[in-house]
Amino acid sequence: MNKVLVIGSGGRCDAICKKIKESDLVDLLFCAPGNAGIARYAVNIPIKVDDIDELANFAKKENINLTIVGPEASLSKGIVDKFQSLGLKIFGPTKAATSIESSKSYAKELMKKYNIPTASYEVFSDYDEALKYIEGKKLPIVLKYDGLAAGKGVIIAKTMEEAKTNLYEMLVNKEFGDDKVVIEDFLEGEEFSYMCFVNGEKVYKMIPARDYKRALDNDEGLNTGGMGAFTCLPFITKDDEEYAYKEIMQKTASALVKENRPFLGILYGGLIKTKDGIKVIEFNARFGDPETEVVLDSLESDLYRAIINIIDGKEPTLIWDTRPHLGVVLTSIGYPGHYEKGKKIFIPPFENGYVYHMGTKFDGDNILTDGGRVMMVVSSGYTLEEARNNVYEMIKEINTKDLYYRKDIALKFI
Ligand code: AMP
Ligand code: GLY
Repeated sequence: MNKVLVIGSGGRCDAICKKIKESDLVDLLFCAPGNAGIARYAVNIPIKVDDIDELANFAKKENINLTIVGPEASLSKGIVDKFQSLGLKIFGPTKAATSIESSKSYAKELMKKYNIPTASYEVFSDYDEALKYIEGKKLPIVLKYDGLAAGKGVIIAKTMEEAKTNLYEMLVNKEFGDDKVVIEDFLEGEEFSYMCFVNGEKVYKMIPARDYKRALDNDEGLNTGGMGAFTCLPFITKDDEEYAYKEIMQKTASALVKENRPFLGILYGGLIKTKDGIKVIEFNARFGDPETEVVLDSLESDLYRAIINIIDGKEPTLIWDTRPHLGVVLTSIGYPGHYEKGKKIFIPPFENGYVYHMGTKFDGDNILTDGGRVMMVVSSGYTLEEARNNVYEMIKEINTKDLYYRKDIALKFI
């Protein structure tokens, strides 16, 4: 019996589980901790994503053949090192390789050393030195706290006053803890996410996607975990993609091998197309959310086979739908600020698309909201406009009384 375990609970994990369960090689799928949507194809196991000892015990006891890690919280705790030390097969980077996401200064140093295009920067732990550096700089200027800051660690300061106040909070008041601050130049251009499957020097590309981080239409409001996404980006040419693949993703994977931190898993490039070329804004060491919901929705070949082949050093088969796939996230009202959970939702069956669950749970036969981002409605079409219309038509069928969503996903590209 071939058993697979996926770790995580959001829309990204719903998309991974759906694809994994499509494989004829997979008999039984578990997800820890999962959600109400994931229960469509996996057995949910109530173990937290950072309880790596319990997860390892479960994988051993159940004879899991492959574990796939969704969130960074598991990776930066060393889940891969733990599983590998027990001889358990797992797809994800070690703690050392995860530094590319968990430490912004490590990622920047690596890019500088290996000539990977990114914004100029310096790292500071001293407030006065940081002030001296920004005084001669153009505005806006970007401040990035080096450690974990619950999504509040990136400040784009439009005035010197704003830069100073935030530096003071980070370096003197130590608002998030005792880490350094990366100060980097502001880049202008179209952002996109480029995810690749990586094993050491081997890099296999997915299709690029755009995500929408701000809460409100026209990219206004607070930063969120992502409000929508789409593929087939009109502003990215084949040459752009080739450049990003060779000069950024491939080079970064090779750099990590040279640094003795070989990467296995999903390397996510948060990239930006500036007038001086494509540059890196950030790296993640995992599938991105909500990009995964539109990217894996476009994958026509077998994800389980591909991952097993990549781990075993064999060539994977990856076949992509070349049509646009688009998704809109429905959130609890108030997110990313205060919001209530436990609202009853009704999702009718759809033929024209799919609803990925992000924050949902069961209450008997009912499905209740259980997070800020509740679900992502995804569809495709021969044009971006068709995909977009399909999604917004589907949303009309969902009772959205207690939900909020952006109305402008991909609108400016149509
Ligand atoms: P990060 O956590 O590094 O992804 O930053 C969050 C968001 O801040 C990014 O998605 C960008 O929109 C923005 N950002 C970060 N760094 C820069 C930069 N150097 N120039 C312009 N925007 C940036
Ligand atoms: N979509 C950005 C992320 O997954 O971090």
